[in-house]
Amino acid sequence: MRTIIEPFRIKSVEPIRMTTREERERLLAKAHWNLFHLSSADVIIDLLTDSGTGAMSSEQWAAVMRGDESYAGSPSFDRFEKAVQETMGFEHVIPTHQGRAAEHLLFEVFGGDGQIVPNNTHFDTTRANAERSGAQALDLPCAESEDTSSDAPFKGNMSLRGLERVLEASASFIPLVMVTVTNNASGGQPVSLENLRAVSDLCKRFAKPLFIDACRFAENAYLIQQREPGQAGRPIPDIVRDIFDLADGCTMSAKKDGLANIGGFLACRDPDLAARLRQLLVVTEGFPTYGGLAGRDLEAIARGLAEVVEQDYLEYRHASIRYVVDRLAEQGVPVLRPAGGHAVFLDADRFLPALEWSEYPGQALAIELYLEGGIRSCEIGSLMLGRRDPKTGEEHPARHELVRLAIPRRTYTQSHMDYVLEVIAAVFERRDAIAGVEIEWQPEVLRHFSARFRRAEG
Ligand code: F0G
Repeated sequence: MRTIIEPFRIKSVEPIRMTTREERERLLAKAHWNLFHLSSADVIIDLLTDSGTGAMSSEQWAAVMRGDESYAGSPSFDRFEKAVQETMGFEHVIPTHQGRAAEHLLFEVFGGDGQIVPNNTHFDTTRANAERSGAQALDLPCAESEDTSSDAPFKGNMSLRGLERVLEASASFIPLVMVTVTNNASGGQPVSLENLRAVSDLCKRFAKPLFIDACRFAENAYLIQQREPGQAGRPIPDIVRDIFDLADGCTMSAKKDGLANIGGFLACRDPDLAARLRQLLVVTEGFPTYGGLAGRDLEAIARGLAEVVEQDYLEYRHASIRYVVDRLAEQGVPVLRPAGGHAVFLDADRFLPALEWSEYPGQALAIELYLEGGIRSCEIGSLMLGRRDPKTGEEHPARHELVRLAIPRRTYTQSHMDYVLEVIAAVFERRDAIAGVEIEWQPEVLRHFSARFRRAEG
């Protein structure tokens, strides 16, 4: 059959409250035009993030009931540990309350003043944790990622020349190398096995540990299976093992490819590192057999890790994203291509070409999508990733002005996606009348979460 269906039936539903355009104008003005300040009850389709927003399966809910809440030695931890060991092959598994807590632990050990951390592209919390430790977070995306309209298959790759150069110039300041799969900040684009192998070889040559930011490892493995020569038809769990066999450890947010609503972990091979991390864990997260999690969360993640590598699930998952990206491209709407693993990214630079980066076209577009149809999306451009010189206050733009429509896992159906397409088309029709935004107030770090905006006159 040509039609790829959602490979599940729906057992429990959450009603969506419809709103009018007038209501949405009022609500967003009250939220200072920052979509993070909206109540989700006022959102029709919530594509703010794919993190923790997926639907759990009946088997996961059943596992939740088996959760053992003992402080020490919980069998739920044993099942969780075994699931991570079997999926990823790392012996030592350290549970944390979410991905950024794992990053915090990692940079407590590897960060520090004067250190340089190369990554294909840091996610914002990874960058913030590295920088908070005093280290410099260095993005080394591949050249193909520059052009948002090309169909290069692995735009998430790391620049090998860039990595080699920085290792040659500054090896003694580099505590580890990280690769983010899929590359969220670069459009959810995958990293190829070939690229990972070359990165791993460079790390070995310079004796540096390689850590994978594994949030979307299964989506990355699926795109390797679909796009990388020689990988077609290979079972997903085998490709997943090939990815992690190249690394010394990983940080993971189980809110993505753990198919859970909360949770994360850090995993590694080195017993001495694991011992140090467990010491830190007890102080900040919890005892090593629960980290920052309840036993029931550990159970949900253990089951989620088994479900997320199922072929039918990944086929449907990617089809739902490809469906939107392909329709938009057909209509001439500027969208990042090819379809990535977890989200649809509109290219706000090309969508609103009259706006300068300093007018935050991504935020302007995200505001319009909410006003038009109650869709909540997220700017990933100069607002989120632009750099401010701490000395001069001068701002530097991000590489791209994107708006991310992150698709929660197993949550929305195709008719929801048809609605999203209709809303985007309506905004595209009237794009010439869309004005930019100014920042009215902003905090020091992670400003996109809490900044307040003013809309310029259209
Ligand atoms: N790394 C990547 C690549 C991520 O996308 C995220 C979270 C994290 C680390 C941190 O994990 O949220 O569990 O602390 N990304 C979410 C998003 C928030 O919307 O993309 P966390």
